[in-house]
Amino acid sequence: MKILVINGPNLNMLGIREPDHYGRETYEDLVNKIKNYCGERNISCDFYQSNHEGCLVDKIQEAYGAFDGIIINPGAYTHTSIALLDAVKAVGIPTVEVHISKVEEREDFRQISYIRFACVRTVTGLGTDGYLKAVDFLTQYLEK
Ligand code: DQA
Repeated sequence: MKILVINGPNLNMLGIREPDHYGRETYEDLVNKIKNYCGERNISCDFYQSNHEGCLVDKIQEAYGAFDGIIINPGAYTHTSIALLDAVKAVGIPTVEVHISKVEEREDFRQISYIRFACVRTVTGLGTDGYLKAVDFLTQYLEK
């Protein structure tokens, strides 16, 4: 099983940005944590982070035929991007949406998620462990 983990804008600033919301782990810590978790389960995983919406669309398109599942934290593009929603719909790859913070308890403008319409599951508010939950969910989903 091959999983692509995509992170959107400002997630490269993990560890520095708003630790009350996003914790103290860095992006590198996050990548290593997921790599170890997947490694123990014989799951192959690749990582991509970009601050640019079009680059994220390109990466989702490139995943077609190459990955079995996608885990995506689109950052602020969650709340604005129909292009990311359409990209996930276009490739038809089972995708789990992850948010480190509990978005549903935050500002009104964070209450809409466009990408959610194309996702098989959403995980919020578990810190970076949410990505591991997403790995578990995708594994079960894809084995069905
Ligand atoms: C986030 C929540 C978004 O609202 C925010 O813009 C982010 C991170 C999260 O992981 O909690 O960049 O997706």
